[in-house]
Amino acid sequence: MTELLQADDIPRAVELLRAGELVAFPTETVYGLGGDATNDRAVAAIFAAKDRPNFNPLIVHLPDTSAARRIVSFDARAEQLAATFWPGPLTLVLPRRADCGVSLLAGAGLDSLAVRVPAHPAARDLLRAVDRPIAAPSANRSGRLSPTTAAHVMSELDGRIAAVLDAGPCAVGLESTVLDLTGAAALLRPGAITAEQLAEVVGPLAAPGGSIRSPGMLAQHYAPALPLRLNATGARPGEALLGFGPANDATLNLSPGGDLVEAASHLFAYLRALDLPQYSGIAVMPIPDTGIGAAINDRLRRGAAKRET
Ligand code: TXA
Ligand code: MG
Repeated sequence: MTELLQADDIPRAVELLRAGELVAFPTETVYGLGGDATNDRAVAAIFAAKDRPNFNPLIVHLPDTSAARRIVSFDARAEQLAATFWPGPLTLVLPRRADCGVSLLAGAGLDSLAVRVPAHPAARDLLRAVDRPIAAPSANRSGRLSPTTAAHVMSELDGRIAAVLDAGPCAVGLESTVLDLTGAAALLRPGAITAEQLAEVVGPLAAPGGSIRSPGMLAQHYAPALPLRLNATGARPGEALLGFGPANDATLNLSPGGDLVEAASHLFAYLRALDLPQYSGIAVMPIPDTGIGAAINDRLRRGAAKRET
């Protein structure tokens, strides 16, 4: 079911990505599970294919620094780091540009985006040819090891994604270093580029929260300012109703047809659209807890709990 493409089949990979399909491709670190970062449906499909029980923000891959500058705001530190380490296994977290066109789901609703320019020639050829930002987490199912060969990817995701671009084993075998530049430079994930190498360029690094936290805890998650009321059967006076499935009175509906991937693709955009002072709260209809529904419910529960603490 999943097509196995060779490095000279890049036009086919481009065609699939532009059509919103998922294509795994090699980087110098690990194989990534790629989807068009500007397409909400494609990004939702990434989370569904991985069986991820939550929405972590994804890394957006670009062919070069100028393409990265179009989606995030660079400062002098970012310019220096990009000039020193790109293309290569360094990911920078920077403020997202308002006009970047990247799906809110790709950044888990945050105001920042993680960007990187990989060094692998097949990845660079693909990114240049597709000419769109590509969101790509490691191409494994949730909780499994990151794949470093096309065969690993196939064993994890065969039948769940459109294609795998096979260009041999990855050289590094360890994910990219993630550096947060939204404040004092802070290491979020150690990787092939060391803290010492980074400090030579930007000076001493701040430790996030005093120690390295687990990846799921790294990002401050987006939650609406209004209270969320979950498993609602209807809106109370003053509330907006976020619907799922058939609902006559929904203010917005995540998926009138009850499609969970479609619902995930709209989740962050619709929560933001309803997070208005004219409402007293957002009532959310029940979402089935199966497949990507688990990730939707995880995010909704966090949003609801935030108000109570
Ligand atoms: O080597 C790699 O980085 C691979 C290849 C495919 O490029 N990709 C990868 O992606 O490891 P992923 O999605 O598995 O890891 C993304 C990491 C997570 O630790 C996530 O929390 C962090 O980047 N991240 C992404 N966006 C962020 C943001 N806006 N703020 C803070 N952390 C972010
Ligand atoms: Mg991973």
